[in-house]
Amino acid sequence: MTESAVDVWTSKAEAYLAQQRDLGGPELYGLALALPALGLRGPAPSPAGGRLEAFRIEIGDCRKCGLAASRTHLVFGAGNPDARLMIVGEAPGEEEDRRGEPFVGEAGRLLDRILNAVGFDREEVYIANVLKCRPPRNRDPLPEETALCLPYLEGQIDRIQPRLILALGRFAAQSLLSCADPLSRLRGAVQERNGVPVIATYHPAALLRNPEWKRPTWEDVQRLRKLYDERVGDKPAWNPSA
Ligand code: URA
Ligand code: URA
Repeated sequence: MTESAVDVWTSKAEAYLAQQRDLGGPELYGLALALPALGLRGPAPSPAGGRLEAFRIEIGDCRKCGLAASRTHLVFGAGNPDARLMIVGEAPGEEEDRRGEPFVGEAGRLLDRILNAVGFDREEVYIANVLKCRPPRNRDPLPEETALCLPYLEGQIDRIQPRLILALGRFAAQSLLSCADPLSRLRGAVQERNGVPVIATYHPAALLRNPEWKRPTWEDVQRLRKLYDERVGDKPAWNPSA
């Protein structure tokens, strides 16, 4: 095969394997990891990227709670596995469930604008939700769903090792900080989770309904940017040739 034929074949194989993963075939998806090792695809993921991929395979076609029955996709997370900044939302909405990616609907477009306003973009951060599957009609997560799903977010945090976390909305903030305080008490100051600073702000979906929360959100993300610039430079960027 010519090199480009190999490329076409591998991208078709990857698309097929991703589909198998989404349909619930973690074993087949595991084969996707072998492609770089076979020399068919490079470069290999960074160490954190590899750990995160392996974790995704471990989770497979999770059926621990009732949301598995109504979801289209399990929305694991997206972005840079070597991110210094991790962004945590509540749960996939309709468009996220359909596409299998976090924050790709209207709230996601607002999130992109908020991030861009302080000089971040989606590709450099990692975005995930507390719940990986969409609650029907976007109802609030149930305590048992949260208890079963939160270990997945914790596993992602362990593998990514972000230096800073932005929690979007009350539910994400309370879940990350293991508390029941209202968002009004959690935002405005830097919180901490196992030594990692956490900044809580309004959820972008809440901002769409309550534009008067845009100004305090702006103050929160400026605080985020300042903290990132002061404290986050110590995590080296992953260098594939090092
Ligand atoms: N709201 C969330 O909390 N997460 C998403 O991924 C989309 C909307
Ligand atoms: N309550 C929430 O749950 N989220 C917000 O962003 C604001 C209030």
